[in-house]
Amino acid sequence: MIVFDKVSKQFFNDTYGVKDVSFVIDSGELILITGPTGSGKTTLMRLVTKEHTPTEGEVIFDDLPLSKVKPSLLPLHRRRIGVVFQDYRLLPESNVWENVALPLLIAGKSSDEIEERVTDLLKLVKLEDKFELFPNELSGGEAQRVSIARALAVAPPVLFADEPTGNLDKESSLAIINLLKKINQLGTTVLVSTHDVVVLEEMAAARRLELKNGELVLDTQPKKRRVKKKEEEIEKKKDKPKQKKTPAKKVKKDAPKTKEKVEDLEESKPKKKGKK
Ligand SMILES: Nc1ncnc2c1ncn2[C@@H]1O[C@H](COP(=O)(O)OP(=O)(O)O)[C@@H](O)[C@H]1O
Ligand SMILES: [Mg+2]
Repeated sequence: MIVFDKVSKQFFNDTYGVKDVSFVIDSGELILITGPTGSGKTTLMRLVTKEHTPTEGEVIFDDLPLSKVKPSLLPLHRRRIGVVFQDYRLLPESNVWENVALPLLIAGKSSDEIEERVTDLLKLVKLEDKFELFPNELSGGEAQRVSIARALAVAPPVLFADEPTGNLDKESSLAIINLLKKINQLGTTVLVSTHDVVVLEEMAAARRLELKNGELVLDTQPKKRRVKKKEEEIEKKKDKPKQKKTPAKKVKKDAPKTKEKVEDLEESKPKKKGKK
């Protein structure tokens, strides 16, 4: 679901954020991204969210090359990736409940939906009793759990936590790691960037991508890219003599269209006539 195909991000002449990085991450994986400060972990995250664009190569998310996502559809793309930062980035003037509810408000959810979702999320992160507190009334571990709940608010398929335990003591770090594992078990693809030994030990079983000076120097469980079925089919059809149109096309046309469909994000595809 996330593919890096020979991706480089060059900032200046000889400064690379990442350099010639290739990997394939499947849906549902739990991934550690390791490497010392300056090795490219945050750059990698920003390439996934398209805050950065590669200077070479292509990032592909759910079979869609991100170079084809037009700027007006970036917010929709970014809703697919929940992000968590080392410094929590909560709104100081809003309480716990409001911080978690905000992405849902922005996404236009109804107040009933928001009520239900925020209640569930606060239960998940074990903060249901602290919903009225403000960020400055929380411990670091609690603040990070709020930020995780907020990142999950619109149910993104991918959660990217960038050094989430960087400011936390061991006990709070363990709670965060267990929470991230649980979120992964519930079905979210989780990427955790870190150089924290506590995290490395606790997540030793996870697949690890290690960066060094922007280069990928280790992938403990490399995956092969499955060539897109659609592409293969198109290639095959080209070789075959023309067939009668199959009913499959009709089924597709009638299938309910979901807002999150990949095709909707694509720039180059001509819009259907009459659709505006
Ligand atoms: N916006 C930027 N402008 C210029 N150089 C940057 C920028 N972001 C990161 N870099 C450089 O890219 C390299 C990787 O940085 P980063 O991805 O932040 O590493 P990490 O998150 O592993 O600490 C570093 O050399 C850093 O100085
Ligand atoms: Mg970083």
